[in-house]
Amino acid sequence: MKKIIVTIDGWSSCGKSTLARQLAKSLGYVYIDSGAMYRAITLYFLRNDVDWRNTEETNQALQLITLQFQYSERSSQSEMILNDENVEYLIRDLVVAEKVSEVATVADVRSFAVAQQQQMGKGKGIVMDGRDIGTTVFPDAELKIFMTADIRTRVERRYKEMLIKNPNLSIEEVKHNLEMRDYIDSNREVSPLRMAEDAILLDNTNLSMEEQLDFALKLVAKKL
Ligand code: DC
Repeated sequence: MKKIIVTIDGWSSCGKSTLARQLAKSLGYVYIDSGAMYRAITLYFLRNDVDWRNTEETNQALQLITLQFQYSERSSQSEMILNDENVEYLIRDLVVAEKVSEVATVADVRSFAVAQQQQMGKGKGIVMDGRDIGTTVFPDAELKIFMTADIRTRVERRYKEMLIKNPNLSIEEVKHNLEMRDYIDSNREVSPLRMAEDAILLDNTNLSMEEQLDFALKLVAKKL
Protein backbone atom coordinates (compact mmCIF):
# COMPACT_ATOMS: atom_id res chain seq x y z
CA MET A 1 0.00 0.00 0.00
CA LYS A 2 1.35 3.42 -1.01
CA LYS A 3 2.25 5.64 1.94
CA ILE A 4 2.31 9.42 1.85
CA ILE A 5 3.37 12.38 3.98
CA VAL A 6 0.57 14.58 5.30
CA THR A 7 1.49 18.02 6.65
CA ILE A 8 -0.86 20.08 8.80
CA ASP A 9 0.16 23.67 9.42
CA GLY A 10 -1.76 26.61 10.78
CA TRP A 11 -2.32 29.08 13.58
CA SER A 12 -1.97 28.22 17.25
CA SER A 13 -4.92 26.37 18.77
CA CYS A 14 -7.00 25.68 15.74
CA GLY A 15 -7.09 21.95 16.34
CA LYS A 16 -4.12 20.82 14.25
CA SER A 17 -2.97 18.19 16.72
CA THR A 18 -6.47 16.78 17.20
CA LEU A 19 -6.92 16.31 13.47
CA ALA A 20 -3.35 15.07 12.92
CA ARG A 21 -3.68 12.48 15.69
CA GLN A 22 -7.05 11.20 14.44
CA LEU A 23 -5.87 11.11 10.86
CA ALA A 24 -2.72 9.18 11.77
CA LYS A 25 -4.81 6.70 13.78
CA SER A 26 -7.28 6.14 10.94
CA LEU A 27 -4.49 5.60 8.42
CA GLY A 28 -2.16 3.60 10.68
CA TYR A 29 0.46 6.35 10.26
CA VAL A 30 2.87 7.88 12.77
CA TYR A 31 1.82 11.23 14.24
CA ILE A 32 4.53 13.77 15.02
CA ASP A 33 3.79 16.92 17.00
CA SER A 34 6.63 19.20 15.86
CA GLY A 35 5.57 21.94 18.29
CA ALA A 36 6.37 19.57 21.18
CA MET A 37 9.99 19.59 20.03
CA TYR A 38 10.19 23.41 20.18
CA ARG A 39 8.45 23.31 23.54
CA ALA A 40 10.92 20.75 24.96
CA ILE A 41 13.88 22.82 23.75
CA THR A 42 12.32 25.89 25.40
CA LEU A 43 11.85 23.99 28.66
CA TYR A 44 15.51 22.96 28.59
CA PHE A 45 16.65 26.55 27.94
CA LEU A 46 14.49 27.93 30.75
CA ARG A 47 15.62 25.33 33.25
CA ASN A 48 19.30 25.74 32.39
CA ASP A 49 19.31 29.49 32.02
CA VAL A 50 20.37 29.33 28.39
CA ASP A 51 20.33 32.69 26.64
CA TRP A 52 18.92 31.83 23.20
CA ARG A 53 19.99 35.22 21.83
CA ASN A 54 23.59 34.06 22.27
CA THR A 55 24.55 31.79 19.36
CA GLU A 56 27.44 30.04 21.06
CA GLU A 57 25.48 29.33 24.22
CA THR A 58 22.53 28.08 22.18
CA ASN A 59 24.63 25.71 20.09
CA GLN A 60 26.39 24.32 23.15
CA ALA A 61 23.05 23.68 24.79
CA LEU A 62 21.55 22.04 21.69
CA GLN A 63 24.37 19.50 21.73
CA LEU A 64 23.16 18.38 25.14
CA ILE A 65 19.56 17.89 24.07
CA THR A 66 18.11 14.59 22.92
CA LEU A 67 14.47 14.55 21.83
CA GLN A 68 12.41 11.41 21.38
CA PHE A 69 8.76 10.50 21.07
CA GLN A 70 7.65 7.51 23.11
CA TYR A 71 4.27 5.81 22.99
CA SER A 72 2.47 5.83 26.33
CA GLU A 73 -0.07 3.07 27.12
CA ARG A 74 -1.63 5.34 29.73
CA SER A 75 -2.54 8.18 27.37
CA SER A 76 -2.57 6.08 24.17
CA GLN A 77 -0.45 8.84 22.66
CA SER A 78 3.18 9.43 21.89
CA GLU A 79 4.79 11.66 24.49
CA MET A 80 7.81 13.93 24.46
CA ILE A 81 10.97 12.65 26.08
CA LEU A 82 13.71 15.22 26.77
CA ASN A 83 17.02 13.58 27.73
CA ASP A 84 15.26 10.49 29.16
CA GLU A 85 12.66 12.52 31.08
CA ASN A 86 9.00 12.49 30.10
CA VAL A 87 8.14 16.20 29.80
CA GLU A 88 4.81 15.86 27.97
CA TYR A 89 2.92 17.51 30.83
CA LEU A 90 5.48 20.22 31.62
CA ILE A 91 5.81 21.48 28.05
CA ARG A 92 2.09 22.40 27.98
CA ASP A 93 2.54 24.88 30.83
CA LEU A 94 1.98 28.61 30.26
CA VAL A 95 5.59 29.35 31.29
CA VAL A 96 6.74 27.40 28.22
CA ALA A 97 3.93 28.74 26.01
CA GLU A 98 5.05 32.29 26.79
CA LYS A 99 8.58 31.74 25.49
CA VAL A 100 8.32 29.03 22.86
CA SER A 101 7.56 31.28 19.89
CA GLU A 102 10.59 33.40 20.68
CA VAL A 103 12.85 30.33 20.96
CA ALA A 104 11.40 29.03 17.68
CA THR A 105 12.63 32.14 15.85
CA VAL A 106 16.27 31.12 16.42
CA ALA A 107 17.78 29.75 13.19
CA ASP A 108 20.01 27.17 14.92
CA VAL A 109 17.10 25.88 16.97
CA ARG A 110 15.06 25.47 13.79
CA SER A 111 17.75 23.62 11.88
CA PHE A 112 18.26 21.31 14.87
CA ALA A 113 14.52 20.45 14.96
CA VAL A 114 13.97 20.37 11.18
CA ALA A 115 16.82 17.88 10.57
CA GLN A 116 15.23 15.45 13.03
CA GLN A 117 11.75 15.97 11.59
CA GLN A 118 12.99 15.21 8.07
CA GLN A 119 14.64 12.04 9.35
CA MET A 120 11.31 10.92 10.86
CA GLY A 121 9.59 11.31 7.49
CA LYS A 122 12.09 9.21 5.55
CA GLY A 123 9.82 6.15 5.42
CA LYS A 124 6.65 8.25 4.73
CA GLY A 125 3.43 7.10 6.44
CA ILE A 126 3.56 10.14 8.69
CA VAL A 127 1.26 12.99 9.70
CA MET A 128 3.17 15.97 11.11
CA ASP A 129 1.68 19.19 12.39
CA GLY A 130 3.35 22.55 12.98
CA ARG A 131 3.94 25.87 11.28
CA ASP A 132 6.50 25.18 8.53
CA ILE A 133 5.97 21.52 7.76
CA GLY A 134 4.49 21.98 4.28
CA THR A 135 6.81 24.88 3.39
CA THR A 136 10.20 23.90 4.84
CA VAL A 137 10.27 20.45 6.41
CA PHE A 138 8.47 18.51 3.66
CA PRO A 139 8.04 20.83 0.67
CA ASP A 140 7.33 17.75 -1.49
CA ALA A 141 4.68 16.24 0.78
CA GLU A 142 1.83 14.61 -1.12
CA LEU A 143 -0.90 16.27 0.98
CA LYS A 144 -0.67 19.65 2.70
CA ILE A 145 -3.46 21.02 4.86
CA PHE A 146 -3.49 24.55 6.28
CA MET A 147 -5.85 25.01 9.21
CA THR A 148 -7.55 28.08 10.49
CA ALA A 149 -10.50 29.02 12.72
CA ASP A 150 -11.76 32.35 13.99
CA ILE A 151 -9.87 33.83 16.93
CA ARG A 152 -12.81 33.64 19.37
CA THR A 153 -13.26 29.94 18.75
CA ARG A 154 -9.54 29.33 19.13
CA VAL A 155 -9.33 31.28 22.41
CA GLU A 156 -12.30 29.42 23.86
CA ARG A 157 -10.88 26.04 22.89
CA ARG A 158 -7.45 26.83 24.32
CA TYR A 159 -8.91 28.31 27.51
CA LYS A 160 -10.92 25.17 28.23
CA GLU A 161 -7.85 23.02 27.59
CA MET A 162 -5.52 25.07 29.80
CA LEU A 163 -7.96 25.67 32.66
CA ILE A 164 -7.54 22.09 33.89
CA LYS A 165 -3.85 22.69 34.62
CA ASN A 166 -3.99 26.42 35.34
CA PRO A 167 -7.19 27.09 37.32
CA ASN A 168 -6.33 30.77 37.90
CA LEU A 169 -5.94 31.55 34.24
CA SER A 170 -8.07 34.28 32.70
CA ILE A 171 -9.48 34.19 29.18
CA GLU A 172 -7.65 37.50 28.44
CA GLU A 173 -4.29 35.88 29.25
CA VAL A 174 -5.03 33.05 26.83
CA LYS A 175 -6.09 35.49 24.10
CA HIS A 176 -2.98 37.59 24.63
CA ASN A 177 -0.71 34.52 24.44
CA LEU A 178 -2.37 33.27 21.25
CA GLU A 179 -2.20 36.64 19.51
CA MET A 180 1.41 37.09 20.53
CA ARG A 181 2.37 33.63 19.23
CA ASP A 182 0.50 34.16 15.95
CA TYR A 183 2.32 37.43 15.46
CA ILE A 184 5.80 36.05 16.20
CA ASP A 185 5.21 32.81 14.25
CA SER A 186 4.09 34.63 11.11
CA ASN A 187 6.61 37.48 11.24
CA ARG A 188 9.86 35.69 12.03
CA GLU A 189 12.68 35.67 9.49
CA VAL A 190 13.30 31.94 9.26
CA SER A 191 10.41 29.80 7.97
CA PRO A 192 7.53 32.05 9.01
CA LEU A 193 4.06 30.56 9.20
CA ARG A 194 2.72 30.63 5.63
CA MET A 195 0.22 28.61 3.72
CA ALA A 196 2.14 26.60 1.10
CA GLU A 197 0.97 27.35 -2.44
CA ASP A 198 -0.20 23.78 -2.89
CA ALA A 199 -1.87 23.49 0.52
CA ILE A 200 -5.60 23.03 1.02
CA LEU A 201 -7.31 25.43 3.41
CA LEU A 202 -9.42 23.94 6.18
CA ASP A 203 -11.43 26.41 8.29
CA ASN A 204 -12.90 24.40 11.15
CA THR A 205 -14.72 27.20 13.00
CA ASN A 206 -18.04 25.50 12.33
CA LEU A 207 -16.93 21.90 11.88
CA SER A 208 -17.14 19.06 14.37
CA MET A 209 -14.14 16.80 14.88
CA GLU A 210 -15.87 14.08 12.83
CA GLU A 211 -16.52 16.48 9.96
CA GLN A 212 -12.95 17.71 9.78
CA LEU A 213 -11.59 14.16 9.93
CA ASP A 214 -13.95 13.16 7.14
CA PHE A 215 -12.79 16.12 5.04
CA ALA A 216 -9.12 15.16 5.53
CA LEU A 217 -9.71 11.45 4.87
CA LYS A 218 -11.34 12.28 1.54
CA LEU A 219 -8.28 14.35 0.60
CA VAL A 220 -6.00 11.45 1.51
CA ALA A 221 -8.10 9.01 -0.53
CA LYS A 222 -7.64 11.21 -3.60
CA LYS A 223 -3.87 11.08 -3.15
CA LEU A 224 -3.62 7.31 -2.73
O1 DC B 1 1.94 23.74 17.94
P1 DC B 1 2.37 24.34 19.27
O2 DC B 1 1.45 25.39 19.80
O3 DC B 1 2.67 23.30 20.30
O4 DC B 1 3.75 25.07 18.93
C1 DC B 1 4.48 25.78 19.89
C2 DC B 1 5.32 26.86 19.24
O5 DC B 1 6.37 26.25 18.49
C3 DC B 1 4.60 27.79 18.28
O6 DC B 1 4.25 29.00 18.89
C4 DC B 1 5.59 28.03 17.19
C5 DC B 1 6.59 26.94 17.29
N1 DC B 1 6.56 25.99 16.16
C6 DC B 1 7.27 26.32 15.04
O7 DC B 1 7.85 27.40 14.97
N2 DC B 1 7.35 25.44 14.01
C7 DC B 1 6.72 24.27 14.06
N3 DC B 1 6.83 23.41 13.04
C8 DC B 1 5.95 23.93 15.21
C9 DC B 1 5.88 24.82 16.24
